[in-house]
Amino acid sequence: MSAQGVWPVAIIGSGNIGTDLMIKICRSDGPLHVAAMVGIDPASDGLARAERMGVPTTAAGVDGLMHMPQFGDIKLVFDATSAGAHRANWTALEPSGVRMVDLTPAAIGPYCVPVVNLTERLAEPNLNMVTCGGQATVPIVSAVSQVGIVSYAEIVSSISARSAGPGTRASIDEFIETTTAALQSVGGAQRSKAVMIINPADPPVLMRNTIYCLVDGDIDHSVIEESVSDMIARVSHYVPGYRLKQDVQFETFSSNGPLYIPETGKFIGTRVTVMLEVTGAAHYLPAYAGNLDIMTSASKATAERIAITEMVGAQR
Ligand SMILES: NC(=O)c1ccc[n+]([C@@H]2O[C@H](COP(=O)([O-])OP(=O)(O)OC[C@H]3O[C@@H](n4cnc5c(N)ncnc54)[C@H](O)[C@@H]3O)[C@@H](O)[C@H]2O)c1
Repeated sequence: MSAQGVWPVAIIGSGNIGTDLMIKICRSDGPLHVAAMVGIDPASDGLARAERMGVPTTAAGVDGLMHMPQFGDIKLVFDATSAGAHRANWTALEPSGVRMVDLTPAAIGPYCVPVVNLTERLAEPNLNMVTCGGQATVPIVSAVSQVGIVSYAEIVSSISARSAGPGTRASIDEFIETTTAALQSVGGAQRSKAVMIINPADPPVLMRNTIYCLVDGDIDHSVIEESVSDMIARVSHYVPGYRLKQDVQFETFSSNGPLYIPETGKFIGTRVTVMLEVTGAAHYLPAYAGNLDIMTSASKATAERIAITEMVGAQR
């Protein structure tokens, strides 16, 4: 099936994430159109699939892309390589003026978590999509921050080893740093920590995320539950398999029995625990790999908003 859209985009990186993104865009009704799939491995499954789907390809990396006849028409380039490769790709592409949506944790541009801050980020030339763990957990921290003071957020994201390609494994330091920073700057936590588990279990496990928020003072549990539930509904518009694994949990620490935190001492307030599961749409890897979908769906939704905004602006 070929792409139906009218707004040409390219994807660099023909691995797990890039191939899932290509399939998602090609199966949707637009406005995006995959005009080029770019890799460095001529034998990669992603480039072979692109050819079968009628998408023009190059195995010569960003230079190959810039020499393709359709390069001048491309409005936006997705980067699904690795954090290190993204830095080189941005250096090569920035002078051309083409926009980039970065699916690696390189974080050259500002963070974008569509349900939280896309509207303020629409004009950015390079948008960073944080990480799969960030796209899954920052919305929840933001939901809790909207109704309470989150003095600390800690998240644990667990993904199947089969879904973590070499590009992911080469970017683990950046995963931790970028997710930790986005929990604060986008999620609204005062301090944060991110942990990633690459689980080799066979059969592979679904993507799971546990989010702990320490919320200062007395809080109304039902207000937090409602805010979290609204946020889950908004994320599941673009990732239908994003859902609560069990009810939100609350544990209260009073002045008689405070929680001791090594770096900061006594905490008095409420620990909110949210457990999420993300089932994928199985566009490329099977449904256990919800970590692909949470990133590729967020990136596709971001580029669609940018495309629609630019197309409406051009008509005025
Ligand atoms: N796998 C996940 O769950 C996941 C989720 C969110 C974000 N990410 C991020 O997406 C990126 C890709 O992850 P992946 O699991 O798909 O890895 P992967 O190794 O399967 O895919 C990376 C692809 O990029 C290609 N590549 C590498 N350098 C290149 C270059 N200079 N030019 C063109 N192509 C190049 C590789 O040949 C490979 O096909 C990583 O930065 C990772 O952190 C991964």
